[in-house]
Amino acid sequence: MPSKGDIVVKENKVWASWAADLFSKRARGCARNGAPFSVAISGGGTPRPVHRLLAQEPYRSEIPWTGVHLFWVDDRCVPKTSPASNVGAAKADFLDHIPIPPSQIHPMPTGIPPADGARQYEEALRAFFGAEPFPAFDLMLLGIGQDGHTASLFPEQRALDEMKRWVVAVKGGNPNVSRLTMTLPVLNSAREIVFLISGKEKAAVTRAIFDEGGTPLPAQRVQPTKGRVIWLVDDQASSLLDKKERR
Ligand code: 6PG
Repeated sequence: MPSKGDIVVKENKVWASWAADLFSKRARGCARNGAPFSVAISGGGTPRPVHRLLAQEPYRSEIPWTGVHLFWVDDRCVPKTSPASNVGAAKADFLDHIPIPPSQIHPMPTGIPPADGARQYEEALRAFFGAEPFPAFDLMLLGIGQDGHTASLFPEQRALDEMKRWVVAVKGGNPNVSRLTMTLPVLNSAREIVFLISGKEKAAVTRAIFDEGGTPLPAQRVQPTKGRVIWLVDDQASSLLDKKERR
């Protein structure tokens, strides 16, 4: 089941600013409509240049941070001071440097037993989105692992087949720790998803997600019912894509 969506290939030196521009444009669009901007971000190393840009001009001033509600797609159940913590990295990269109201930063409760944390985060999402069948984030920034995982939905894990819960506790990945992750139905309810993919080590998996056949990789199962998917790939990670596949 090859992935669908728009493939946008950008040279690495402009790749992060393309993502920051989109984040800013969407946040300003919601503000113009008097609506909150709900965004869910991922962890790992790839998004960090984008996050750091958001704390710099012009983004720091042009984004209406008072309308932004920030959530996490997943996080590791480690202390926020751990280098493995997604919220810890985000705080260092941009959250501590932008005028977003602290009450609008919604970190995953990774300091309590994972099963309780999953339940608690689902309750927090329901409190924000209401009793929707699933929450419809305005924007979701996803990464992809070399094994094709996204969020903390890893190949051959039961969590991939969770179709009711919004958040579940899993164990795996690198580091191989307990994690909280949003489930596929939540990812597939987002209005817009941008996969942030960069670096030559992602060239093979970027090729694989657009190929037919085999058991679908977790990232290939991100096929929003109504939302749009953009694959934002830098020149190194797109090196195995055909010319006709690039936009
Ligand atoms: C996480 C991320 C995860 C990440 C991929 C890619 O918490 O690990 O949410 O899904 O996006 O593992 O990680 P890199 O960007 O570090 O390659």
